[in-house]
Amino acid sequence: MDYVDRNIKSELDNNSFFRSPEFQELLKRVDGHTVMGSNKLIFVYEISLNYKDEPMAEVGVYKGGSAYIIANNCEKEVYLIDTFTGLPKVSEYDKHKEGDFRNVDYIEVCNYLEPFKNVKILEGLFNERKNDIPETEFGFVHLDVDIYEATKECLEYFYPKIRNGGSILIDDYDSSATEGCKKAVDDFFENRKEHCITLGTTQGLIIINKEDEK
Ligand SMILES: C[S@@+](CC[C@H](N)C(=O)[O-])C[C@H]1O[C@@H](n2cnc3c(N)ncnc32)[C@H](O)[C@@H]1O
Repeated sequence: MDYVDRNIKSELDNNSFFRSPEFQELLKRVDGHTVMGSNKLIFVYEISLNYKDEPMAEVGVYKGGSAYIIANNCEKEVYLIDTFTGLPKVSEYDKHKEGDFRNVDYIEVCNYLEPFKNVKILEGLFNERKNDIPETEFGFVHLDVDIYEATKECLEYFYPKIRNGGSILIDDYDSSATEGCKKAVDDFFENRKEHCITLGTTQGLIIINKEDEK
């Protein structure tokens, strides 16, 4: 499968409903650094703003586009984790192939995100780097890993660490190209209170409900 970076500038021209000048400016700055369209990035922008004074994380950084928006909006630490060599081994539930999204250069991503002093980039498999994330209570976590195992691993790690009322945005929840991701989310929340809200963009939003733990 070939992946084409989104032509954000042309989307910007055709989407006059994104009226926030700040969001429009961010779209210009992430152009060429993301496979996400402006219809999805608006949710990354709006939801992260809601948690701006709390720690955030993203797994699935690729060339850094969605991470740039998160880092811009967050006044606390932002942890960004990716292999930066493409997808690891996939499962029977995934349509993606190992190595998809490997056309990325770790140093270039570091340079691109260098203006944000609140960012900590962890290169490698999530499961091998998660212990380098300090014990933190998160407000917002963005998962854009596309595949079953990584989605499962990330939910197992982050769910207990997100505060009551915090959010997880899953980029690939409702896409026929990433059914493994949906399975991991649905399995994880099957016996939990939260419901993954589909946003109509293939993204899913989970608002953490820990009322019973109080
Ligand atoms: C669709 S791309 C992310 C796109 C990005 N959010 C953007 O704005 O374009 C998916 C990324 O997930 C990463 N990934 C998937 N499984 C991973 C794992 N177990 N550990 C670390 N990174 C992983 C891949 O390396 C790939 O860069």
